[in-house]
Amino acid sequence: MRFLAETDSTNLDALRWASEGAHEGCLVVADYQRAGRGRLGRSWFAPPGTCLLFTLILRPRIDASHLGLINLAAAVALCEALADREVESSIKWPNDVNLADRKVAGVLSEHDGGVVCLGVGTNVNVASFPDDITASATSLSLHEGREFDRLAILVDFLARFDLLYRDLPGRVPEEFRRWCGTLGTEVRVALPEGTLEGRALDIDSTGALIMESGEVISAGDVVHLRQRGEEGR
Ligand code: BTN
Repeated sequence: MRFLAETDSTNLDALRWASEGAHEGCLVVADYQRAGRGRLGRSWFAPPGTCLLFTLILRPRIDASHLGLINLAAAVALCEALADREVESSIKWPNDVNLADRKVAGVLSEHDGGVVCLGVGTNVNVASFPDDITASATSLSLHEGREFDRLAILVDFLARFDLLYRDLPGRVPEEFRRWCGTLGTEVRVALPEGTLEGRALDIDSTGALIMESGEVISAGDVVHLRQRGEEGR
């Protein structure tokens, strides 16, 4: 395990460490990242000393079609760790963790050969966000009005993730459906080839999103247009 006061990105550290032979389960944790990486080439905002930022090195020996479920398992494990603290969260497909439709955590796994570097960033005790994300982001402390222990969340996450990961696909699809706020909801999906709107129905065995129209989306950015049960309002 490597605890770093400051680094560029724990994902980059993990990729470098894995290339030097780091075993499955090796973990990089940082208090601050100068160049935190987000999905779809974005950066990840996290002021020093406020967030839980880590990357877990995995060497999965599973069917390639199940690799996408690793990210989903991470989102489920985080929701479970938050529920242990009486925090109600939900997953926005594929693996954003939200508190009341504002993002509190994200997952970015980067692959190199047979290695998966699973990076998770959680806004724990962040007091404020930059203007461009202030409407869409939140932290545990802002939402709950109390401070949280970052390492305690990490320990619970790892225990929960381990159970899901050892047994993939196992309970992951079913647990994901339980936590996911996207299924049954009207969504807008930004895809490289354009935008698609419709009702998200389910996930398939690889974790891809199945739309009511029959389309199956393996990667994209989802916006929830209406929450479940809001139809007709
Ligand atoms: C997202 O865009 O939702 C994914 C964000 C992932 C951020 C985490 S922070 C720890 C790890 N290191 C990185 O550079 N990125 C991930």
